[in-house]
Amino acid sequence: MIVDDVPDTCESVRCLLNFEPRVEVVGEAHNGEEAVSKAEKLRPDVILMDINMPVLDGIAATEAISCRVSGCAIIIMSVQGEQEYLRQAMLAGAREYIIKPFTSDELISSIYRVYDLEQRRQVSIQGIAGEEKRSALGQVVTVFSTKGGVGKSTIAVNLAACLSQEFGFSVALVDLDLQFGDVAVLLNMTPRQTISDLAVEYNQLDEELLDAYLMRHSSGVRVLAAPARPEYAEMVSSHHVEKVIKLLQKSYDYIIIDTPGIFTDPSMVALDYAHQILLVLSLDLPTLKNIKLGLEVLDSLHHRDKVKIVLNRANLELGIGPGDVERSLGVSLLSQLPSDGRLVVGSVNKGKPFILSNPHSRISDSLRQLAREVVSTGQKTRSVKKPRRFLGGLLSALTQ
Ligand SMILES: Nc1ncnc2c1ncn2[C@@H]1O[C@H](COP(=O)(O)OP(=O)(O)OP(=O)(O)O)[C@@H](O)[C@H]1O
Ligand SMILES: [Mg+2]
Repeated sequence: MIVDDVPDTCESVRCLLNFEPRVEVVGEAHNGEEAVSKAEKLRPDVILMDINMPVLDGIAATEAISCRVSGCAIIIMSVQGEQEYLRQAMLAGAREYIIKPFTSDELISSIYRVYDLEQRRQVSIQGIAGEEKRSALGQVVTVFSTKGGVGKSTIAVNLAACLSQEFGFSVALVDLDLQFGDVAVLLNMTPRQTISDLAVEYNQLDEELLDAYLMRHSSGVRVLAAPARPEYAEMVSSHHVEKVIKLLQKSYDYIIIDTPGIFTDPSMVALDYAHQILLVLSLDLPTLKNIKLGLEVLDSLHHRDKVKIVLNRANLELGIGPGDVERSLGVSLLSQLPSDGRLVVGSVNKGKPFILSNPHSRISDSLRQLAREVVSTGQKTRSVKKPRRFLGGLLSALTQ
């Protein structure tokens, strides 16, 4: 957000930022008071703030914003000779200052510097919050869709890696796409034992035995892989899945569950136990139609409150926009991930989640934002009751 009382300055700063793909100007304000109210509404990552302005000056505005809007870094734009003001601005909470006139390179590198620093601060704050909450049972986050190929596994794997490596949570990732699960492939891991081997040991299953089945990824995520062959899928029942989730909840902060693109008994358990259901969709009509039906089913199962919509490949020009999705489904989107075939497929082929291989890309920024939403929702919904309703329940709910 740009704050300056001289419209020409706002315009020239906009021009300097015009060709920087990772920077978007989300708003403009022309005095300190307007800056404070817009910062509260727009919650920009970075504010470029002039000092001398009418109504409320940039220093008072910086102080108010630093107290009221977390995660927002302020860069002061000043002219030479305002040394005392600059000192006051830094005391008020500004993170950086640049002297007018500045070049596009100076401006952009300042923006990235304060943005990266703020991201790291937020991550460590959330890490500490996670530590404090460890005594509670783990949060179950089920990544679901009523359509195949929309990006469930991509999102599940990157979300788990982000929560573990960047935010410092303990994370278990369970592949419940029992016939064709590919979580292990996405992480370049070769499972020696999978969830179907574990099902055989159901009667002896406890935390220690389960631990032996979990592969350790370099990001810290512990992974329970899908069966090695599609025909082994039927060895895994809803009761097995229920027991696995309950045990994981005792040891991990987050249990991320990847699912197939249909309602199956095991994925119904993952929906029942979920504190948050990330319903993934893309911008095409067949997907929207299926998601609409899926939402109706989730509604009848009383899961609607837990559902958060994640729009994947949001920037594709397909004639349908995010606004159309919100209107036609009657839900607001929690998060949007851009399409980036080169980076996503490249990371898949390397077996390394993009959040680890390209942490500063646009798609990683969006994923990190999604992870932050998941954490903040998690902190509000620690003690969700876990209903029991498997496929029989689904059928009766649908026929009521
Ligand atoms: N944001 C994105 N940009 C570009 N490509 C993507 C993006 N998200 C996913 N993909 C690609 O789309 C394909 C499907 O993704 P993914 O396997 O994650 O979907 P899925 O919903 O898990 O599919 P399935 O239902 O088959 O399990 C993969 O090739 C993946 O690399
Ligand atoms: Mg998948």
